[in-house]
Amino acid sequence: MGRMASVVPTEALIYAPAGMEAILLVGGLGTRLRPLTDEVPKPMLPVAGVPLVVHQIARARAAGVDHVVLATSYRAQVFADALGDGSWLGVSIDYAVEEEPLGTGGAIRNAARYLGDDPVLVFNGDVIDGHDIAAQVGLHIDRHADATLYLTTVDDARPYGCVPTDGTGRVTAFHEKMPEPVSDQVNAGCYVLQRAVIDGIPAGRAVSVERETFPGLLADGRLVLGAVDAAYWRDLGTPEAYVQGCADVVLGLVDAPARPGPAAQSLVLAGAEVSPSAVLCGGTSVGAGCVIGDRARVDGSVLFDGATVESDAVVRASAVGQKARVGARAVLDSVIVPDGMDVPADARPSVGSRLTAR
Ligand code: GDD
Ligand code: MG
Repeated sequence: MGRMASVVPTEALIYAPAGMEAILLVGGLGTRLRPLTDEVPKPMLPVAGVPLVVHQIARARAAGVDHVVLATSYRAQVFADALGDGSWLGVSIDYAVEEEPLGTGGAIRNAARYLGDDPVLVFNGDVIDGHDIAAQVGLHIDRHADATLYLTTVDDARPYGCVPTDGTGRVTAFHEKMPEPVSDQVNAGCYVLQRAVIDGIPAGRAVSVERETFPGLLADGRLVLGAVDAAYWRDLGTPEAYVQGCADVVLGLVDAPARPGPAAQSLVLAGAEVSPSAVLCGGTSVGAGCVIGDRARVDGSVLFDGATVESDAVVRASAVGQKARVGARAVLDSVIVPDGMDVPADARPSVGSRLTAR
């Protein structure tokens, strides 16, 4: 995955209150996305031809962030190799590496040694969204909050942090992964935190910001606000969500200043060879060096760099790993193909399957 020059359009850089600092939480194992995350950590997976985390950095940059600390653990070096010092993205990047994963709260505490005393933005590293970061920060500052959480509403709150608020916007409870959610309003994974809140997180041990820190702030009567925002939001933590999120970015359903090209039915990276009779639609991304044969149809899917789709194959809502091959006339629907795998001609793996080498 090569670096990309001038990924953030300069006109996106004008309005922000300059000089904010941010922590990106990118140390999770990405277990639910295996095998795609066997070598590549989840926040480094390509989304419309750019690592997921680059979309987040570009949005943070557009909102005035100029210093980012990546809180890493699993496959930490992959981030540094790809992102370097961040100057190509218009930010400076430091890397805070956890020997053992410290959990979301421990990661924030560990990253804070690179930061100053002002309020800090914290982002979960696996979310694509279009929320108004400046409005969230503005709310935090205006109301002198201790913490301000970006909240969104979802159909099913069970996989998320359920976060009800009162009529004044104050968070009244924080229930991580509640079996019977009391609200459809959830933690969308972006916080503004006062430095004192971060300093209050115990150092040197694993801490969950969701299960420990936020409930602790509420118990202590601190001012925790919800910045409710109805913009596009998706956590890309499952294969279905990842594939859908990629398609949505390509189609332009979410503000994505780092998308390398205009919104369209498909995004074809340089060096791919696509037959003129192939059909690419539904927000498909085609990685560098891919080859797509005659009359193949690729709909709403992600083809990683160097993948091949042979003639008359049909690929829908699927992810095809690096240098993997989909044989002629094969039909894939909502299938995950690991890097390097050969899907034989005429194969029809069951809908929703995750193929494995053996
Ligand atoms: N550095 C570091 N260390 N990062 C971590 C660790 C760790 O030990 N554990 C998780 N992370 C990172 C992950 O890489 C990811 O970017 C982010 O923290 C959130 O972890 P997930 O594993 O994706 O959590 P989740 O999706 O189940 O739930 C979280 O996100 C939801 C919204 O997307 C919670 O914050 C929920 O409350 C929230 O609703
Ligand atoms: Mg997640």
